[in-house]
Amino acid sequence: MKAGVTGHPIAHSKSPIIHQYWMKAHNIKGSYKAIDIAPENLKDGIKHLISENYDGFNITIPHKQNIMGLCDEIDETAQLIGAVNTVRIYNGKLFGTNTDAFGFIQNIKTSQSSFDFKNKKILVLGAGGAARAILYGLLQEGVAEIILTNRTIETAKELAKNFQGNITVTPWEKRADLLGDIDLLVNTTSLGMQGKPPLDIDLGKLNPNALVNDIVYAPLMTDLLNHAQMRGNPIITGIGMLLHQARPAFAAWTGIMPDVTAELEAMVLK
Ligand code: ATR
Repeated sequence: MKAGVTGHPIAHSKSPIIHQYWMKAHNIKGSYKAIDIAPENLKDGIKHLISENYDGFNITIPHKQNIMGLCDEIDETAQLIGAVNTVRIYNGKLFGTNTDAFGFIQNIKTSQSSFDFKNKKILVLGAGGAARAILYGLLQEGVAEIILTNRTIETAKELAKNFQGNITVTPWEKRADLLGDIDLLVNTTSLGMQGKPPLDIDLGKLNPNALVNDIVYAPLMTDLLNHAQMRGNPIITGIGMLLHQARPAFAAWTGIMPDVTAELEAMVLK
């Protein structure tokens, strides 16, 4: 396997740890590198990977949209999410997909196997790139209703328009009032991340059975998750989304669908 992750900056990416772990576990020879490509060099950088016989690559910030213009084919999932995070190179052609929705859904399914998405009401905080993949994933799973809220309400309205499904947009100021009858609360904003302000939300009205998921994983236990846990709500951390989104990429390049293990999770969190 000859693969890597492209982005700018890229030094802090966890993807090399994940893919190198699976290469070792499955006895696959090759390499998975962090490849820094500045936005103005994207086209040449990708051409170089093709000429070097790469099997494919992951794409992270800031190239997830721009890579789409360089792909020969983009599958329906990536088209609907509006971003490509995984490319397979075959006969010199680029095939783009997006595994973020899979990662989000699999994290919840493996952490909370009794949670059935059907007929559920979900509150999604944030309307950026991550929210886009998450909305796609939730709708695919057949949820009953999504309430979307974002500091900039226009962004949430634009995002909701992209999807067919029961999505209601409500003002950010109302976020705490909506918690009473939801089944799942997801933070997709960058709030709570190291170096960012905490997510300010009063959980006083939160349905005691609601599942709470933060996609932030640094720190692993955000204020949101700590508060939810103190109330006795089931919680799911964000690290699983990162680990699970990597699985279909590895499978695209090797034909092997790898597992997320406790050992891998510990290595990534170190
Ligand atoms: P990503 O691709 O990781 O989702 P993004 O596209 O930059 O990142 O989105 C960041 C999200 O965090 C957005 O929903 C953003 O809200 P705006 O659309 O109003 O910018 C949200 N966010 C970032 N800082 C915030 C803050 N201080 N208060 C509320 N929301 C914030």
